[in-house]
Amino acid sequence: MEQLLQENRVFHPPADFIKGAAISGMDAYHQLCAEAETDYDGFWARLANEHIFWKKPFTTVLDESTAPFYKWFEDGLTNASYNCLDLNVEKGLGDKKAIIFEADDGTVSNVTYQDLLDRVSKMANALRKMGIQSGDRVIIYMSMSIEGVVAMQACARIGAIHSVVFGGFSAKSLQERIVDVGAVAVITADEQLRGGKALPLKVIVDEAIALGDCEKVKNVIVYQRTGGNIPMTAGRDSWMHEVVANESAVCEPEWVSAEHPLFILYTSGSTGKPKGVQHSTGGYLLWAILTMKWTFDIKHDDVFWCTADIGWVTGHSYITYGPLAVGATEIVFEGVPTFPNAGRFWDMIQKHKATIFYTAPTAIRSLIKASSNDVAVHPKSYDLSSLRLLGSVGEPINPEAWMWYYENVGGSRCPIADTFWQTETGGHMISPLPGATPMVPGSCTLPLPGIMAAIVDEVGHDVPNGHGGILVVKRPWPSMIRTIWNDPDRFVKSYFPEELGGTLYLAGDGAIRNKDNAYFTITGRIDDVLNVSGHRMGTMEIESCLVANPLVAEAAVVGRPDELTGEAICAFVVLKGGRPTGDEAKKLALDLRNWVGKEIGPIAKPKDIRFGDNLPKTRSGKIMRRLLRVIAKGEEVTQDTSTLENPAILDQLKQPL
Ligand code: WTA
Repeated sequence: MEQLLQENRVFHPPADFIKGAAISGMDAYHQLCAEAETDYDGFWARLANEHIFWKKPFTTVLDESTAPFYKWFEDGLTNASYNCLDLNVEKGLGDKKAIIFEADDGTVSNVTYQDLLDRVSKMANALRKMGIQSGDRVIIYMSMSIEGVVAMQACARIGAIHSVVFGGFSAKSLQERIVDVGAVAVITADEQLRGGKALPLKVIVDEAIALGDCEKVKNVIVYQRTGGNIPMTAGRDSWMHEVVANESAVCEPEWVSAEHPLFILYTSGSTGKPKGVQHSTGGYLLWAILTMKWTFDIKHDDVFWCTADIGWVTGHSYITYGPLAVGATEIVFEGVPTFPNAGRFWDMIQKHKATIFYTAPTAIRSLIKASSNDVAVHPKSYDLSSLRLLGSVGEPINPEAWMWYYENVGGSRCPIADTFWQTETGGHMISPLPGATPMVPGSCTLPLPGIMAAIVDEVGHDVPNGHGGILVVKRPWPSMIRTIWNDPDRFVKSYFPEELGGTLYLAGDGAIRNKDNAYFTITGRIDDVLNVSGHRMGTMEIESCLVANPLVAEAAVVGRPDELTGEAICAFVVLKGGRPTGDEAKKLALDLRNWVGKEIGPIAKPKDIRFGDNLPKTRSGKIMRRLLRVIAKGEEVTQDTSTLENPAILDQLKQPL
């Protein structure tokens, strides 16, 4: 962190980039910020009128009467799918490539805006025929595919609320989401292909439903990806290609209020249960569009590539909605960055002449490592001259990784948008604007126009620049989370806590602003949320999973810094039968890792497991997590341990397996 704050390299956007940019130069940026400051409602109303098609225009902008349940453009009627597809076809972009899909094995297929509109309309008609109505919830459990985007857009078209579950989550995690959201249908694929391997999807849906409480699910629609042999339940399951076969390619969209929920996406919080983050239609779409234009400076000829999965918010905003709503051509990739080798990304950029590339620091770090002793997979072995802009998302990017990305991938000519945002924020919040903001490696720089980000202390008072504090947003913005599905109280408590005065949006991250230029640097989560390879994981979620194992008496989970994945999960476990050692300990650790993989999903598997007779606790019985964090890092405990009930336990827990 010290090193980050002393970072003094500054990189200016190239002059020709500034010239052509949507927000051109810092004056233009400041002007937009000033417009928002002077007339907040007017600023957002202007943008919403300019960038969204309204079937019926809105007359109210921001409604704060039920704060913090804010409403935006509520009496306006629109439809997200119409804005993404029909509107572009009407503008004459019907023959423009919407998606360039590259499969795991390298097979490429393209769809135009007209194709996509037809396919989405057919799917939407098929869903309607099954009785799925506006407001119904549909779970989507699919891999990266055109069909995944079609499924999401088809739901949006008929006003059904989709909830995408990442294909790496287990049957149990899937079932919990099906139940919590009250899904009436599940859209899935027979199997998914990643890194040359076929992995199950449909059988996991079957397992999830068999776990119980899923009676509301009347339809399971299966996209045939691999042709693998999977069981189909008569009366419930159907093939996607069969249900759309005889449907019309014309489907009148459902015109919904701007506040109609577009989707619910589960994410981890500080308590055990994942939260169903609910997003709106109008405000969410507006920000997906504006950030495509402002942060990504999207132009007609761009080939945009966001490498995220549709199971995460990045895939929602910057694959399914943003790029299509602005009529862009985008790449959708099924596979993984290391198959058939670690040059896959560079090969694809070269092949498809990608101009904008948006990925996560973990991917960059792993590719730095892979290419350090294999020049064949190094970016310099590829022609990446088509690139004009890079982006980073999901976790802090360390200055070394930033520099490597800038020099080797961007040829020292492409600005990097280090975009700080969250599932809850719907789109970018703090990021350099590529044609305006001077960049500093490791800093996400300044808030986007209209985003009133600030840093406060524990009671909600502003802290001066140069002092660390809690990252908040002072005013509601159109794409913000509307509520937590089924749990409005948790929404208020999690994001608008009384301790901060009840009106500030609490992001859950710590941050500091630079004394000289007021740039923001994110210092990491201040709650019990870990960020492993850019994936959010709740420590409590993993702890509850571990203690649900019959062998486990107690468990505490903390994060420790990891060179590759940002953070790694470290679990301290007390077994009912006493502390195992040697090979037995190794075997039990493996069993527990697999247990977590099966219960939550492989991404939640702890990297380290340590066994103890007990956990370090205060005399009042509280687990001393700060000590566990020190031990997990492999550092000496220098803190005061006098309040510890059982100091001897620390030595046990220091022992790696
Ligand atoms: C972290 C992903 C530093 C942060 C879009 C946040 C970042 C959490 C950055 C949200 C960034 C995301 N720099 N940290 N550029 N982007 N984060 O909900 O801790 O999966 O709170 O959304 O990721 O993760 P989520």
